[in-house]
Amino acid sequence: MLTLTALALSSILSASLVVAQGVGTYEKEVHPQFPIQTCTATGARSGPNCVNVPTSITLDANWRWLHNNNGYINCITDNYWNTTLCPDNKSCAANCVLDGADYKGVYGITTNSSAANGGTLNMRLYTPYNFATNIGSRVFVMEEGSETKYRVWKLLNREISFEIDVSRLPCGSNAALAFVEMDADGGMGKQKLNTAGARYGTGYCNAKCPKDLRLVNGEANCEDWQPSEVDRIAGTGRYGSCCAEFDIWEANKMSTALTAHSCSLTAPAKCEGSACNDGLCDKDGCDFNSYRLGDTGFYGLNKTIDTNKKFTVVTQFVTHDDTDTGELVEIRRKYWQNGREIKNSITKIPNMVPANGISDGFCRDQKAAFNETNTFKKLGGMNSVGAALRRGMVLAISILHNYDNEMLWLDGKWPKDADVGKPGVVRGECQGDSGTPLMVEGARPQVSFGKMRVGPIGETTSLIITRN
Ligand SMILES: *[C@@H]1O[C@H](CO)[C@@H](O)[C@H](O)[C@H]1NC(C)=O
Ligand SMILES: *[C@@H]1O[C@H](CO)[C@@H](O)[C@H](O)[C@H]1NC(C)=O
Ligand SMILES: *[C@@H]1O[C@H](CO)[C@@H](O)[C@H](O)[C@H]1NC(C)=O
Ligand SMILES: *[C@@H]1O[C@H](CO)[C@@H](O)[C@H](O)[C@H]1NC(C)=O
Ligand SMILES: *[C@@H]1O[C@H](CO)[C@@H](O)[C@H](O)[C@H]1NC(C)=O
Repeated sequence: MLTLTALALSSILSASLVVAQGVGTYEKEVHPQFPIQTCTATGARSGPNCVNVPTSITLDANWRWLHNNNGYINCITDNYWNTTLCPDNKSCAANCVLDGADYKGVYGITTNSSAANGGTLNMRLYTPYNFATNIGSRVFVMEEGSETKYRVWKLLNREISFEIDVSRLPCGSNAALAFVEMDADGGMGKQKLNTAGARYGTGYCNAKCPKDLRLVNGEANCEDWQPSEVDRIAGTGRYGSCCAEFDIWEANKMSTALTAHSCSLTAPAKCEGSACNDGLCDKDGCDFNSYRLGDTGFYGLNKTIDTNKKFTVVTQFVTHDDTDTGELVEIRRKYWQNGREIKNSITKIPNMVPANGISDGFCRDQKAAFNETNTFKKLGGMNSVGAALRRGMVLAISILHNYDNEMLWLDGKWPKDADVGKPGVVRGECQGDSGTPLMVEGARPQVSFGKMRVGPIGETTSLIITRN
């Protein structure tokens, strides 16, 4: 059976042969360079010892132009599949191709690979181009020097740090860094005829088993597709794609969350219908949101971490014996701003043992204090997170808004109708109606990431990293 992505690439290949005849790949895929740095232990505290590695990014296939082979007709326009080209997943596969991306012009994604200390990555949520507008995007970090494989990050007994500017991310927006257990080749190896693969950003999955993906397992998700009633560019199909996920950073200038999800899977898996809803991975996860956990003066405008200005975020994956082979016991967070190290906030919630990182004990206490089911524990807890980090995960970076919840789970009151007096309900200062997608788009949100470093615990940051 031919798959859509297989057709995508075979078309691209044949297209490149007939380009001279004016038909073919309309946009050459050129991955923007986004060098990260890897650091080694220095022993003496003389500052990090880091080197640039030549990593780049690729755009998630979900945002790419999907059009008929050798033509300009969209296979999906906004949230409607062309039913002539895509009456079912097989015909759609035979008829449609994925194209390259104009990162800057269409998606508002730029990088600077000559910046000091690795590269910088800038993403905009709202990018008008020609006669349309792109909303949001997600990119994946490629393996160093590779055009065809995602980088597989192994973070046990390591830390990752990056500098971020969230000052132009209003209520309702979210700039996120998530590790997800995608296949490094985007599924190409398993999906016999998927020859587009990671180069074209295929294979996204996460612990929420999203069904809004246009492609699942290298095939079109056009059957039973329900266009969203509110979001003119989104919809959901019959299939979803599940895998382990660790959200290292989900934030705007008002609130931030660090969220561990447990998952019973050891590789991406396709789910169908209501089976995508629960049982495989812990969708809610166990989150650390300083505001929600009682320190309302820690993160935000003019607060301890002043989100008007750049700062550096450090996340550490601590094992029980401080070795790479140990069991994950705690995920710790610290920050740097204005050349100063700032410890993470400490929880101030009745009946919770004060904590400033994520551990099984923290998750148990928080779930109890907030009267939530501890699905995190049920699906494997920290052990499951540690196992995924040991196998290795792919880094997805995105800028988004959300029609269903307006990001109120991050920066406002959630659930929407819950009593604000109940512990855990208020997550930030955003009011119920301040983060609608229309308002978010109007604010033209953007984010920049830089100085991304990975290395032994304590070895990626020092005064040097925040000097400029
Ligand atoms: C759908 O695709 C068919 C066949 O390529 C084409 O004739 C038709 O114009 C397309 N419809 C739309 C709405 O683009
Ligand atoms: C890229 O970074 C370099 C070094 O920091 C800087 O001199 C240059 O102006 C930057 N380029 C852009 C387009 O921002
Ligand atoms: C494609 O359609 C066939 C037949 O309806 C089905 O068996 C298969 O699972 C579908 N695959 C996807 C990814 O939708
Ligand atoms: C933050 O501080 C600046 C400068 O002191 C001030 O202009 C601004 O109004 C403050 N913003 C908030 C939200 O308090
Ligand atoms: C806790 O949640 C359960 C079910 O979700 C509910 O029945 C119960 O009333 C809640 N308890 C409190 C104290 O809110």
